[in-house]
Amino acid sequence: MSRTMRAAVIHRFGGPEVLRAESVPEPVAGEGESVIDVRLAGLNYADLEIRAGTYDPPPLPAVLGADVVGRRRSDGRRVAALLRHGGGYAQVAVARDEHTVEVPEDVTDAQALCLLEQGCTAHSALATVGRLRAGESVAVSSAAGGVGHLAVQLARAAGASTVVGLASTPAKRDFVRSLGADHAVGLPEEVREAVPGGVDLYVDSLGGPYLPAALAALAPFGRVVSVGWRAEAPAPVALGDLIERSVGLHGVWMRHVLLAPGLLARTADHLFALARKGLLTGHVDRVVPLAEVGRAHAAVAARQTAGKVLVDVHG
Ligand SMILES: NC(=O)c1ccc[n+]([C@@H]2O[C@H](COP(=O)([O-])OP(=O)(O)OC[C@H]3O[C@@H](n4cnc5c(N)ncnc54)[C@H](OP(=O)(O)O)[C@@H]3O)[C@@H](O)[C@H]2O)c1
Repeated sequence: MSRTMRAAVIHRFGGPEVLRAESVPEPVAGEGESVIDVRLAGLNYADLEIRAGTYDPPPLPAVLGADVVGRRRSDGRRVAALLRHGGGYAQVAVARDEHTVEVPEDVTDAQALCLLEQGCTAHSALATVGRLRAGESVAVSSAAGGVGHLAVQLARAAGASTVVGLASTPAKRDFVRSLGADHAVGLPEEVREAVPGGVDLYVDSLGGPYLPAALAALAPFGRVVSVGWRAEAPAPVALGDLIERSVGLHGVWMRHVLLAPGLLARTADHLFALARKGLLTGHVDRVVPLAEVGRAHAAVAARQTAGKVLVDVHG
């Protein structure tokens, strides 16, 4: 007889109200996978789009959630894992072994969860694709957000000369400055007021009309690294503009970090080491029980969160 667990399940795509805490059968591990008894699950912006059915819709019913921390059932080790096909908002998850990292003793569950998905995305944008060098200047969009607040700190730790964070409210901009940003501004057009010659690297997570503005904020030889986009109007980018300004546009997707052998583990080791040195701290906006995941989605959609939202799957 299959064991049951509690999970936040969707039976149809829609607003935050479609997320319901229910008892469902535990998932079963296949070849190359392990069962994890989850302690905390993470909320990521893409979860909102998957829930709405506008991005990578899974077969229904579905348990969303792309990152978890807990104990691996086979050996009791404390691990954090990324779940390519969801299943995180649950008391038990199944993760591929190569997408699972052991959490060092002196890194808390909450920190590990803040750092794994969003920290690896920020690091991949800045370092792996953005090739940030010490002394270069950096701008980060949604800088108070899950990816953004880590990107600001990572840019600082990598020796950026100037870090500019973008955020929509004065309170968020105060938060961004507290992370080590030299300047916090509201719009991409204001980046040049902070760095008149333009920035060398711009991490953008909004796309649409924000993308041309991000490119316009670059210095010669600068690059925009796009990590995401909102479902707003597409922004055509003219090749001539890139050439005539000697700037570049790159993208990065965590899927390729997962596909590159050993890259996730190396990146996580780097981020955990920075966390242990006090150079990188994941900010937890709130921890919600499974029954409140819908409300947490609504709060992220309403731009009310800063840092990472966690789900206590036993709450
Ligand atoms: N490429 C990858 O593999 C990868 C991996 C992880 C995440 N991502 C992407 O990285 C971005 C950040 O993800 P995250 O999980 O850390 O989310 P997040 O940044 O915490 O998302 C919430 C923030 O986005 C900003 N925002 C701007 N326009 C918004 C809108 N129309 N509706 C709601 N929020 C809006 C808000 O900040 P302000 O109020 O300050 O504007 C809001 O607080 C997302 O685009 C996500 O898809 C990509």
